[in-house]
Amino acid sequence: MNFEAIAPGIYPELVYPPYKSTVKRGPTQPLLRLDAPRPVTDNIVATRSLLLPHDMDLTAQGEGEPLGEKIVVTGRVVDEDGKPVRNSLLEVWQCNAAGRYRHKKDQHNAPLDPNFNGWGKMLTDDDGRYRFVTIKPGPYPWGNHDKAWRPAHIHFSLFGNVYAQRLVTQMYFPSDPLFAYDPIFQSIPDEAARQRLISRFSLEETVGDQMLGYEFDIVLRGRDATPMGI
Ligand SMILES: [Fe+2]
Repeated sequence: MNFEAIAPGIYPELVYPPYKSTVKRGPTQPLLRLDAPRPVTDNIVATRSLLLPHDMDLTAQGEGEPLGEKIVVTGRVVDEDGKPVRNSLLEVWQCNAAGRYRHKKDQHNAPLDPNFNGWGKMLTDDDGRYRFVTIKPGPYPWGNHDKAWRPAHIHFSLFGNVYAQRLVTQMYFPSDPLFAYDPIFQSIPDEAARQRLISRFSLEETVGDQMLGYEFDIVLRGRDATPMGI
């Protein structure tokens, strides 16, 4: 996929020196164009048997309630023509309210929450809509540079309906003061594209006195594509 030609400035810079690991992993040679192999346009079929009982409620996977601010996140997944991407697998993962992942590589000096794993998965419905309940993740330090703290974010992985729609990205929260200092967020050159990674607060999706609602719509491919965020 020549993403840059379709949507200039949307794809993150592959080598972006302020984001240190891109210097080691980014390509040093010009990219080669490959003809799309057939599987790129093959359908991906996701089935409900993939889902476990509490995959769409990350606050219900432990013995008790996790600590932090309970929220609901919802949105629509559409393709480049605005058509719903139906019955497609969407996975999410995140740190807990204190900014700690349940992962052996995360040694941040913040507590794990025994009632919070931080991962979930779901299928989009016939309108391309998804919805999950979780805890608002905290910011965390990541050692990239002095005072390097990630803005609060939830990682998203979408399979779409065909392999060419595959997207791995991150959803952010409105008005985070860390955006300006985050090389991962800033590695996407186009300002409007960066803004598409920020969810919006929704009073409509807010559930009574239980949880605030956030909306995050996702466009797979095209000029208005939701950028990769890795
Ligand atoms: Fe993260």
